[in-house]
Amino acid sequence: MKAAEIAGNVYWVGAIDWNIRSFHGYSTPRGSTYNAYLIKGDTNVLIDTVKRPFFDQMVSRISSVLDPKEIDLIISNHVEMDHSGSLVPAQNLTGAKILASKRGVEGLALHHDGLEIEAVEDGQELRIGDRVLRFIETPMLHWPDSMFTYLVEDKILFSMDGFGQHLASSKRFDDEVDKDVLMYEAAKYYANILMPFGGQVLKTFEKVKDVDIKMLATSHGVIWRKDLNGIINAYLSWAKGETKEKAVVVYDTMWGSTQKMAEAIVDGIASEGVETRPHKLSDSDRSEVMKDVLEARAVVVGSPTLNNGMFPTVADFVTYMRGLRPKGKKGAAFGSFGWGGGAVKALRENLEKAGLVLSSEDLEMRYVPKEEEILKCFEYGQKIGKEIKGS
Ligand code: FEO
Repeated sequence: MKAAEIAGNVYWVGAIDWNIRSFHGYSTPRGSTYNAYLIKGDTNVLIDTVKRPFFDQMVSRISSVLDPKEIDLIISNHVEMDHSGSLVPAQNLTGAKILASKRGVEGLALHHDGLEIEAVEDGQELRIGDRVLRFIETPMLHWPDSMFTYLVEDKILFSMDGFGQHLASSKRFDDEVDKDVLMYEAAKYYANILMPFGGQVLKTFEKVKDVDIKMLATSHGVIWRKDLNGIINAYLSWAKGETKEKAVVVYDTMWGSTQKMAEAIVDGIASEGVETRPHKLSDSDRSEVMKDVLEARAVVVGSPTLNNGMFPTVADFVTYMRGLRPKGKKGAAFGSFGWGGGAVKALRENLEKAGLVLSSEDLEMRYVPKEEEILKCFEYGQKIGKEIKGS
């Protein structure tokens, strides 16, 4: 397999995972890539590795440029195993010294027993022949150990998971793939991986605001060389929690009652001219739903009561959303029940814990909603639509 030269003597030597469809619970219908990079010079440097099953693919690409034994240094920007999984065989093969952030050293030691790693400081520069590498710590983007590496002369920022997309492609750059697909996958990635860390994203932008960047060489998907402003502005907007006039209605149903309610609520919201999108959880993947939640101003969640609690798919979704801590959004809870109820109360508690600002009113109906109750659901949707427009 061949390396791809992305700048003079700088090569992509990563792996394409065409077949992955679930990345620890995040659906990846378009596959992914694990991007590793090789800088060839007086000191040959490998930046990150790949998921362990793809080690041979990475070695094959490196071998198309130089003998892997000529690699002097490996920079590990991030401990997570999709990037560090091949560090042990890579060190065995090359004998190279491994560098990581201080917390990276700690984390890597806990993943790879016996691996020798040296720590670099935040802001430290390292001369590699006629070029210089600068290390920039980016804690909690999205693990404590995370850091960027900046290749000063070429103005390339190796941004690890930052600006990534789970997008397998035979192309390497943003201007070579469908822009709508690319932005969809970048937004989905942000929503499911980086959403809880908006504050740290903004701090990182502040930290690198004077760094001249010509290329964002991410660890997943394609490299940004053309529309850097587009992806940077999108990240700033997402990190600030900016929203648009849009409501997501997320629900599941046992015997159709909660679905009838959801459909009437969606109609009511739409009647106010507000964009809305229903997601029935037994047919929608949670990570796709979160992509829609990212820019929505309201998240309206419905559940039938099952054994005095939420329906399992709804419980799964609200647990997932709580972890992702969406910012600056309104919420509402609705559902149906047969006798004791309980789902809507549990929903309210969970949505509040997720950080949503709930409307004072829940909407709950017994057994099958009648015509006048469907009208109530429509009006409930209208009220949500008006609130969205007024905020
Ligand atoms: Fe792509 Fe956080 O690893």
